[in-house]
Parts: sequence; C-alpha cells; structure tokens
Amino acid sequence: MTESASGDAEQAGLPGSPFKAPTGTRDILPPESARWVAFVSLFAEHAARAGYGLIHSPMFEEIGVFRRMGEGTDVVRKEMYDFLDKGNRHLALRPEGTASVVRAFVQHRPPTPWKTWYVTPSFRYERPQAGRYRQHHQVGVEAIGSADPDLDVEVIALLSDFYAALGLRQVELVINSMGTPADRRAYVDRLRSFLVGRLGDLAPEDREKVEAHPMRVLDSKRVQTVAAVADAPSILDDLSDQAVDHFERVRSGLDRIGIRYRVEPRLVRGLDYYTHTTFEFRSGALDAAQNTIGGGGRYDGLVEALGGPPTPGIGFGSGIERVLLTCDAEGVFDVPPVGIDVFVVDVTGGEHARAITLELRRAGIRADRGFDRRSMKSQMKSADRSGAAWAVIIGDDEAATGTVILRDLRGEQGQERLARTELLDRLHKLL
Ligand code: HAM
Repeated sequence: MTESASGDAEQAGLPGSPFKAPTGTRDILPPESARWVAFVSLFAEHAARAGYGLIHSPMFEEIGVFRRMGEGTDVVRKEMYDFLDKGNRHLALRPEGTASVVRAFVQHRPPTPWKTWYVTPSFRYERPQAGRYRQHHQVGVEAIGSADPDLDVEVIALLSDFYAALGLRQVELVINSMGTPADRRAYVDRLRSFLVGRLGDLAPEDREKVEAHPMRVLDSKRVQTVAAVADAPSILDDLSDQAVDHFERVRSGLDRIGIRYRVEPRLVRGLDYYTHTTFEFRSGALDAAQNTIGGGGRYDGLVEALGGPPTPGIGFGSGIERVLLTCDAEGVFDVPPVGIDVFVVDVTGGEHARAITLELRRAGIRADRGFDRRSMKSQMKSADRSGAAWAVIIGDDEAATGTVILRDLRGEQGQERLARTELLDRLHKLL
C-alpha cells in the first residue's frame, strides 16, 4: 500500500480496513522475537565483558540535542520525527543513540572513561526499502573521556568479535580518519573547491549540497556522482601530524590483534560529528545499497557542542534488523528453538491445570496449559502445537485417584500413570 493510501484509510477509519503498523515499521513477533532476545543478550555479554554498562535514556529529547550533532546531514535536517508537546516544547524522537548518551554524560558528569552500551529504537523519516526502516533498532556502545587510540581499537574489536560470535563471515571492516576538527574544516574547503569545478558532472540532486555540505556529496550512491568524485581529494592527504599519528596507532593496534581492515579515504559517514577514526562494517551478503551493518567513530568535539568540557569520545551503532538480514543471508544465528517443556491437559475443569502449571513453573520448568474447558482432542492439539516434549493429562479418573498421566509427545516413551506427588521429581529426571 502506498503511504498516502494507508494515510487515507487511517483518516477514514473505515470499518473493515483494519489498522496496520505505520509505513516503514515492523512488528517483531514470536518466534522471530526469540532471536532478538538472543541477539541482545549476546551483545550485552560482549559489552559487559569489556566493562561497558547499560544506559537507558529517554526516547525523545529537546530537539536541540540532536541539532547540535550538526545540521549538515539528512538525519538531522530532514528525517527527524519532531513535534511540539502539550507544553509547547519542541522535542524529537531519537534518530540515533550517540547524542542522548553525550547529553546524559554532560548532565551527570560521571568519572571517565565512561563506557556504556545501549539497545534502542531509532526513528528516521527515510524512504523505506529492504534493510531501511523508519523505526529501526540499534545496539551500540559509547566510550567517553579518553583520546587513547587503543580505545578506538577496543571499540572496533568489540563489534568485530560480536559479529564473529553471531557466526558472520562475510563482513568487511573499512576505516578512515577525519582528522582533527581543523583538519576536517580544511578538507571541506578543499573538497568544495574541487566539487565546484565538477558541478556539471554531478547528479542534479547532489549539486545543491556542494556549497553547504560538500562531504555529503561523497556519500552519494548516484552513479553519475560516484563517477564524478572518483578523483576527489583524499582527506588522508590533509591530515595534521597529530591525526596521522593517531590513525597509525589505531591501524597498528588492529594489525597486532589480527583484525583485518581496508583504509577507505572516501568514508565520511552520514553524521557530522566525526573526528579522527571512522569505521564501517559492510556485509558482502547484502545488497550494496544497504550493506552497512554497523558503523561509528570518534566524536572529540561533541561533548563540548552539547555544553560539556572538551572531552573525547568514540562509539558505534549497529542496526539489529540489518545484522539479522545478514545472518539470514549467511545462514547463521537461526531463530532459537522456543517453546515449553510440558503442556498440561485438564479435562476436569482447569483446577488441576492451574495448580500443576504453577508448581512446575516455580520449579523452573516451562509449562503451559489449555484454557476455556476445551475438549481433550482440542487440548491435545494445543499440546502438539506448543512444541512441548511432555503432556500431563488429568481426566476424571486421575482427579479421583490423585494421579496424572505423563505422555511423551515425541512418541518415544509412550505414557505412564504416576502419583501426582511424584510428577515434579519424574519431570526433573526426564528434562
Ligand atoms: P549510523 O551509521 O547512522 O550511525 O547508524 C548505525 C547503524 O544503524 C547503520 O550501520 C545501520 O546498520 C543501522 N541503520 C541506520 N539507519 C537505518 C535504517 N533507516 N533502517 C535500518 N537500519 C538502519 C549512528 O547512528 C551513530 N550513532 C553510530 C555511532 C555511535 N557513532 C559513534 N557512536
């Protein structure tokens, strides 16, 4: 359905045209959601092992928090979901994770280095397509308060190891340096002059960016522009000694721990706050248009831009949807088997099912039951569908004699009748 068509249907509120999730968003339902749980726990484990603590901050901020990231990017200029609240405050839903973490750092001034990780929805009003959503989800880290190039290496290694732990193999790391803020400014001027000389060769949609946001032209995926900027000046030729030294130390750190990378002088990334190291992980298993599964870099001026003291920082964000698409494409990190261990079928009214499921759950066994006083046949069908290995069946005879029937739903061990009081012990042995 087109965007306007779904909008019309919503306005009409027509009976018979049920609501759908908004354009560019998805429902994550079971059993797929079990994969998300596993994904986030694996990430949490990797982050915790490296000394990063979880941060939760509000999903919306004063719009200025995001504007301070720099107005040179589409993310800030065009794609934010901003609104006035009932108190007339201008707020925006977070388009990414870094700015809020930096705002929280400035507000709370924790001891440095301050190492945090997050999992968060992010909202960008983009044109939806495979791997690009209006609400996507990121896991990420931010490490604030150290300019040590070894921290860059740590952050990159964390993400690289996480992808490896998922089982991904076709992932390429590309890195670049944006230099110091002064290096970056000098480069922008040089690039602008170059682009002004090539204006006619650029795709028409990219020409308007040359004056105010020349770096965005390098991001362009339009074939005409890509060809026209093939010999654009490289930022690496313009770096100060300090930036060259930083970059060399990051590279040698990566070399020493055996993390392979390619230096890509055109890598400018889509956000304005980057200084020094920038990096992206690209998947060879995804379509080139949306193949960046994670990216990040240093932002040594952002804390100051948000009202804090000059403080360096570095981090990354990685899109959960895109990484999972990559897992699908590589056939790794499957949806984990979900389900329960035991299904309780009670055809005497439900009293026994209530008591037994509770007892089993409290003992750590995953148990479910039928509701609505359904027939034996219907409850057995639910038991099969639940994926449970065992059914506990209570009919009138069992209720009268204080027994239960334990049936192997996989058919290997048949069924047995046992005293109700022995059930837990027996299940503990079987599971
Ligand atoms: P980003 O490159 O804009 O960086 O986004 C990070 C990742 O989020 C991307 O690599 C991609 O996997 C995913 N992503 C972004 N937009 C979408 C979308 N519309 N649909 C699906 N996935 C998407 C940042 O957000 C920075 N905050 C990263 C960072 C942290 N830099 C320093 N610290």
